[in-house]
Amino acid sequence: MKFFLDTADIGEIETGLEWGMVDGVTTNPSLIAKQGKPYLPTVREIAELVPGPVSGEVLATDLEGMLEQGRRLAGLADNVVVKVPLGPPGLTAVRRLAAEGIRCNVTLCFSPSQALLAGKAGAAYISPFVGRLDDIAQDGMDLIRQVIAIYSHYDFGTEVLVASARHPVHVVLSAEMGADVITLPFKTLSQLYRHPLTDIGLNQFLSDWETTGRSFDDE
Ligand code: G3P
Repeated sequence: MKFFLDTADIGEIETGLEWGMVDGVTTNPSLIAKQGKPYLPTVREIAELVPGPVSGEVLATDLEGMLEQGRRLAGLADNVVVKVPLGPPGLTAVRRLAAEGIRCNVTLCFSPSQALLAGKAGAAYISPFVGRLDDIAQDGMDLIRQVIAIYSHYDFGTEVLVASARHPVHVVLSAEMGADVITLPFKTLSQLYRHPLTDIGLNQFLSDWETTGRSFDDE
């Protein structure tokens, strides 16, 4: 399963790349707004830093606007994937942009029927939002299970990108279900490394060795 970072924070992306765990990045207007920087230059800066796919979202809500902004986003760098919201204009834009060789990530997916439409439209990625479904007392991971089952019958070429992931259980379940990609806040990526028994075990190993009074280099 590929790990994308769900952030527009350059420091977080640099750290994730250094750890060797970041296969790509997803952004959205809220994440870029948090950085207090201009929109397109921020997507370009991230795309130049990251070797893998970087999703940048259109801000337009009408078809012509989405096409125009989608082409400009895709023109920033070869690895930019155009993020388009679900709905008739969004999925029409996906079909038209795909015909031009532009890869799209369909965002704000909350139902299996929406995912089916995105596959038929030729999306490169579908982004079902698991955390926001959990927020309204529906199990977001049920949606991932359904989308994977539906896509397994057809040949859409659309990757299932688990979005709005909030904690390590989302990551483990996504991997068990065989999701193609999960996009993670930096905090969740960091949490994946942690286990109290790792810390306790390491302290024990080091303190046991310290009692010998010897060093690593002693012959
Ligand atoms: O980028 C889309 C998605 O991952 C947003 O997550 O936590 O704002 O629901 P969240």
